[in-house]
Amino acid sequence: MCGIFGYIGDKNAPSLLLNGLRKLEYRGYDSAGIAVLNSEISISKCTGRVSDLEKVVPSEMVGKCGIAHTRWATHGAVTDENAHPHLSEDGSVAIIHNGIIENHRALRNWLVAEGVILRSETDSEVLAHLIHRAREDGLSPLNSVKRALKQVRGTWGLCVLFANEDVIVCARNGSPLWVGLGDGEAFVASDSHVLTTHTRDAVHLEDGDLAVLTAGEVKTSRIGSGLSDPTIITIDESWGEAELGDFPHFMLKEIHEQPESLRQCISGRTLLKNGNGKLGGIELSPKQLLNIPHIRLIGCGTALHACQVGRLAIEEFARVPTQSHVASEFKYNNPVISPNALYFAVSQSGETADTLAAVKEIQLKGGQVMGIVNVVGSSIARQCGRGIYIHSGPEQAVASTKAFSNMVASLAIFSIQLGRARNLSIDAGKSAVRALNKIPKQVENYLANQGSISEAVEAVKNANHVLFLGRGPSAPVAREGALKLMEVAYIPCLAYPAGEMKHGPIALLEKDSPVVVICPNDKFREKTLSNVQECKARGAKIILIHEEGDEEAAGEADIAIAVPKTHNMLSPLLTVIPLQLLAYHTAVDLGCDVDKPRNLAKSVTVE
Ligand code: AGP
Repeated sequence: MCGIFGYIGDKNAPSLLLNGLRKLEYRGYDSAGIAVLNSEISISKCTGRVSDLEKVVPSEMVGKCGIAHTRWATHGAVTDENAHPHLSEDGSVAIIHNGIIENHRALRNWLVAEGVILRSETDSEVLAHLIHRAREDGLSPLNSVKRALKQVRGTWGLCVLFANEDVIVCARNGSPLWVGLGDGEAFVASDSHVLTTHTRDAVHLEDGDLAVLTAGEVKTSRIGSGLSDPTIITIDESWGEAELGDFPHFMLKEIHEQPESLRQCISGRTLLKNGNGKLGGIELSPKQLLNIPHIRLIGCGTALHACQVGRLAIEEFARVPTQSHVASEFKYNNPVISPNALYFAVSQSGETADTLAAVKEIQLKGGQVMGIVNVVGSSIARQCGRGIYIHSGPEQAVASTKAFSNMVASLAIFSIQLGRARNLSIDAGKSAVRALNKIPKQVENYLANQGSISEAVEAVKNANHVLFLGRGPSAPVAREGALKLMEVAYIPCLAYPAGEMKHGPIALLEKDSPVVVICPNDKFREKTLSNVQECKARGAKIILIHEEGDEEAAGEADIAIAVPKTHNMLSPLLTVIPLQLLAYHTAVDLGCDVDKPRNLAKSVTVE
């Protein structure tokens, strides 16, 4: 996943390109580069962040048309040479690419055999040479891109500059691209909210689309057809600039935004008087809800953990068999798709290639799949065509926090709605709805009184590994806490259902090994406390997330952190918060780059 931005119009391109890249850096930040057209093409690129690129862009680099790229490395190390843009040998073609060219090795070998001198290790560079060869054969900019794309297999979000041609040619297949139309200018970007600084009039490129941008006009095309006028839509979800405000990092800001983002997610979606949920986007009648034979929830990373919580909530409230699936495995395991079943693709960005591929596989086999997505108009939302927006607002930190909470809350509402169409009683429904409506305030109260986070940081920050344990709905919370600490503080973590610990992981424990145990006062409490004893018997240091008032549980811990009491199936919405804070503060204490952790990106748009 990389960030792509382009501009053609009457303004000086370099500063616009760099601003566009800054907003896209969450998509990858190994290296960055720009290409600017001023009759000839000039490029400037380097490893590091956009702030590093800014220092090397020559002041004499001027032009009113350009393309820009921020990279998350897939093929080729993080080096200046492998940074985008890539040039043809004579410098007359420049390309930036997001995606994977699957047959790049054969193409590289062929190009070398043809005498081409390759400058990088990347798969993307082949596109510059293929397009250039088509231009040498007299093809137009658009047709040279079309010919090149017929020679490659894979995915692309691609922008191409041509010397002496005031045009940008774009193409999309599997990696998102949006085109923005301004007054006498045009833009292209990897996601729509980057465009809203400049324009709300946009074209969402679909797989197989190409676009020709000139100053103020966009024409679209397909590989086998001519030019056509695109459908222009108005981008209505403008998140504007997510500003840091008084926070030192977006991750901490977004942790503290959870009370409000949860309110945005829950508001208007519950009916207390009959103990029900009301998710408009689901568009299923009670009769249809009654006839669903089983449900499948699909996601990656944090979204997968939300699926694992949601699975338990659906089975608890609605008694419908439900499974959660790793999106990257789903399509390749030749899944049995039932046309009557209900599938959910869960994704904050709505651009995760693994999850999008699962959606397409389900649809290919006649299944009905809905999105549970944060980014409005994203590829997964569009591909599903219906579902639930979780309304977290822009989540800039690579480590997902508020989106997890809103995914869990959305799935809880769906569970109640499905349950009330089946056997969930009005009283049980009311109890769940009441508890859910209290959650935002409870999260706010906890954030105002966080407990012994700093002690917990001291216990984990120098550890060789940290073990996270939980049972029932706390087991996926343990996985989520482990993922957070791994991805921002680079500490090896293991997460297990607490009952599994004695079947192997306990071997890791020695004196002062930190073990984080999530232990709300639910039906798993006794057994979880037994596991705590087993860990203590091996000298482990116990960090226990427990319910306010449960002094017995607190007494079993070296470090006890209390969270408010809530409905058993909603406890993840509270127990996850201290784990988010633990990860954040540990990362800060260790001097890690909290919002842009090494090797990661916010949206993984390659399979
Ligand atoms: C979570 O902190 C990670 N950034 C990552 O696991 C993320 O949840 C995963 O890549 C899925 O992203 P999505 O929700 O945008 O699909």
